Amino acid sequence: MTNIVILTGAGISAESGLGTFRDEGGLWAQHRIEDVATPEGFARNPKLVHDFYNARRAQAAEAVPNSAHLALAELEAKLDGQMLIVTQNVDSLHEKAGSVSVLHMHGRLNGALCASCDHRWEAPLRMTPSDACPACGATSTRPDVVWFGEIPYHMDQIAEALSKADVFVSIGTSGEVYPAANFVAEADHFGAHTIELNLEPSAGASRFAECRFGPASEIVPTWVQEELAR
Ligand code: APR
Repeated sequence: MTNIVILTGAGISAESGLGTFRDEGGLWAQHRIEDVATPEGFARNPKLVHDFYNARRAQAAEAVPNSAHLALAELEAKLDGQMLIVTQNVDSLHEKAGSVSVLHMHGRLNGALCASCDHRWEAPLRMTPSDACPACGATSTRPDVVWFGEIPYHMDQIAEALSKADVFVSIGTSGEVYPAANFVAEADHFGAHTIELNLEPSAGASRFAECRFGPASEIVPTWVQEELAR
């Protein structure tokens, strides 16, 4: 039975109306990473950071999965659990599309975290610096997302899945951020067939055995149909 690990990035959600980071006019052209995506930035100005994530959470709440998300959910259902999505995205479009086995290595917009007691809960649409943790009451709540300089989530599970993958597919990511950018090398080391499905060649395109370029809403359903026909 084919064991498939899929890595997704902001590009898979672009056609659902959610901005990417490094494309022309992307999020990192509009905001300074050090202000909105680092622990230091949050300590300096928690309201600025909450406002940044509140805006993204509201946008993500309205977003609808596109045909790429839906095709992956269809493939997972047919593969009877032999498939894992590791997403760098903090939106929940994979889950909205019906995917079940999803690991958010950079956390989730819908998650809230208490920096004092590590309690986690479902975030309200708008978070503010004066929100109190439901468990310990401290007003040190933050979005449960992984910032630069912090350790991504689920790395042990991801390493285990990559070591057993027959196929590794990277979708909609620039390959600029580690450790995700090295997953292709890990999967290749364990003998997986590696595929990049992206709008244009990523920084790591040459490390993939196979590359297909185009909008995810087109090339992902095509690839999924080929997999289902195997
Ligand atoms: N279809 C397929 N790919 C697309 C599409 C599309 N419609 N639109 C854009 N892309 C591709 C771009 O060509 C680019 O390679 O998606 C990629 C988006 O790259 P980034 O904006 O860098 O996003 P991502 O790779 O997810 O960033 C990784 O960086 O800032 C951190 O935590 C953040 O998770 C994020 C991480």
